[in-house]
Amino acid sequence: MNYRHELANILQEKVNIDKDYVMQSLEVPERHLGDFALPCFKLAKEQKKAPAAIAQEMATQLQNTIPFVESVQQAGPYINFYLKKDDFAKNVLSEVIEKGTDYGSSTIGNGKTIVVDYSSPNIAKPFHVGHLRSTVMGQALYNIYSFLGYTCVGVNHLGDWGTQFGKLIVAYNLWSSKEAVEEGGIAELNRIYVKFHQEAKEDPTLDDKGRACLLKMEEGDRETLDIWQFFYDISMKEFKRIYKRLGVDFDYYTGESFYNDKMAPVVKELKEKGLLQESDGAQIVDLEHEGLPPCMILRSDGATLYSTRDLATVFYRKETFDFHKVLYLTAIDQALHFNQFFKVIKLMGYDWWEGLLHVPFGLVTLEEGKLSTREGNVVLMEDLLDAVVNRAKEIIQEKNPNLANKEDVANAVGIGSVIFNDLYNTRIKSVVFSLEKMLNFDGETGPFVQYSHARANSLLKKGGAIDFATVDYACLTDEAAQNLLAQIYQYKDRLLEVTEKNEPYILTRYLTNLAQTFNKFYQSNPIISQDTDIKNARLALVYATKNILHNGLKLLGINAPDQM
Ligand code: ARG
Repeated sequence: MNYRHELANILQEKVNIDKDYVMQSLEVPERHLGDFALPCFKLAKEQKKAPAAIAQEMATQLQNTIPFVESVQQAGPYINFYLKKDDFAKNVLSEVIEKGTDYGSSTIGNGKTIVVDYSSPNIAKPFHVGHLRSTVMGQALYNIYSFLGYTCVGVNHLGDWGTQFGKLIVAYNLWSSKEAVEEGGIAELNRIYVKFHQEAKEDPTLDDKGRACLLKMEEGDRETLDIWQFFYDISMKEFKRIYKRLGVDFDYYTGESFYNDKMAPVVKELKEKGLLQESDGAQIVDLEHEGLPPCMILRSDGATLYSTRDLATVFYRKETFDFHKVLYLTAIDQALHFNQFFKVIKLMGYDWWEGLLHVPFGLVTLEEGKLSTREGNVVLMEDLLDAVVNRAKEIIQEKNPNLANKEDVANAVGIGSVIFNDLYNTRIKSVVFSLEKMLNFDGETGPFVQYSHARANSLLKKGGAIDFATVDYACLTDEAAQNLLAQIYQYKDRLLEVTEKNEPYILTRYLTNLAQTFNKFYQSNPIISQDTDIKNARLALVYATKNILHNGLKLLGINAPDQM
């Protein structure tokens, strides 16, 4: 039952308020003000009356006329609707029971493809906490869009091409070896890359050698390409280890190098459309009309750039996936790059440029002194994950030393806390990693929600079988139960809101509230009560809550253990 819909229809019919207006304006007020509230400002303006007077008039007219509404009250400029409590319980719960883990899913996205470009670390560079944000946000959006019926294509646009690889190969030939890289992995590659930059300050010819090496790669020189491939394989091995721990997966690992042979046609088209200009020997697209600095397409030596590859990439994606939208998840510092390249597509005359969305996020900071940084002054992802899982293990050991599968639970809790923490605020807000805060079982954290889920699970176990067919919904009309039902009812709207704003935090916060409301419910309402009807109804509500906690966490990319 979609109350918003129903109310909109009824209000149009009975008091002649525009249906769309009601759909858009109905608010969910604080609990004591009812289940829905309709603000009357706009109606007041139209009818040249005071909002409170209109609200009063309508409330009186509507009283006792809507079958599922208990009472209609005027409060200031609002009309407040109080639903019939047992009816509400029945509508909400029976839907969760019927749909099970599909509850909240939708067909709204059917026929639309969303390409999610996420994680996308740079080969031969450490996978650091900055890439973590892109990875977990991208995966959460991928999961949620899919749940709402969209076809999602997850792409890891690896940074595996560009001048840095020319430099790295020069550095490798000078100061490293196959054995050293096999042994040290990305850390060794990073060591020689940092060294290259130090040495290049003294010896500028190194940079020229680096550029020459990239040109050789672009011409298909076997020897340099073999070294590049070696770096690629070493890096992927490390990345995949991290993705496995994070439970992240991609449909394609098509990095920048995949587009090497796909750039020439784009450059040609830009030229034909008269969009290319020469500037100091380089080829650029002027974006002055768009209020942006020019977008460089080819360097003066003919080499391609990050933007050139992104242009080729998006044409390939349009052709291959015919997307509705592409979401690019990177830190906010790449906003200009995306803005520029989207505008180039616009100037080329493709109206689908509007479906290209940069989904930016803020910085990651670490609580001072808690995690040491290694090479290149970044915190390595694997160090962070180790630290958090170890701490989770200690906490579990303290709280529940007899727990089975301690290792698995520590992993779920540790990794889950990282993901949850990362998705807890609006994207743009910077994230602070504080192990103690993230792992606080009583805070607004992943472990808190996981714990509530485990609690629901143990109540269900203790309670025994539920007879869903005979649930007496009149047993769920008390305040705590109704508050919980109201939360459950919001789940669908919150998921839609995530996709409207591309903000996973909406789901994260929702689950936190749901868990808090659930805790209040079972503390004030003994579940294993003597009365079989009460017990059955309350258990059904616990079941529904558990279902959403579990499923919601899964959409965020977090496992919910049955026991903690
Ligand atoms: N490799 C880039 C980085 O680490 C991110 C790539 C994002 N995706 C894209 N299509 N440009 O900053």
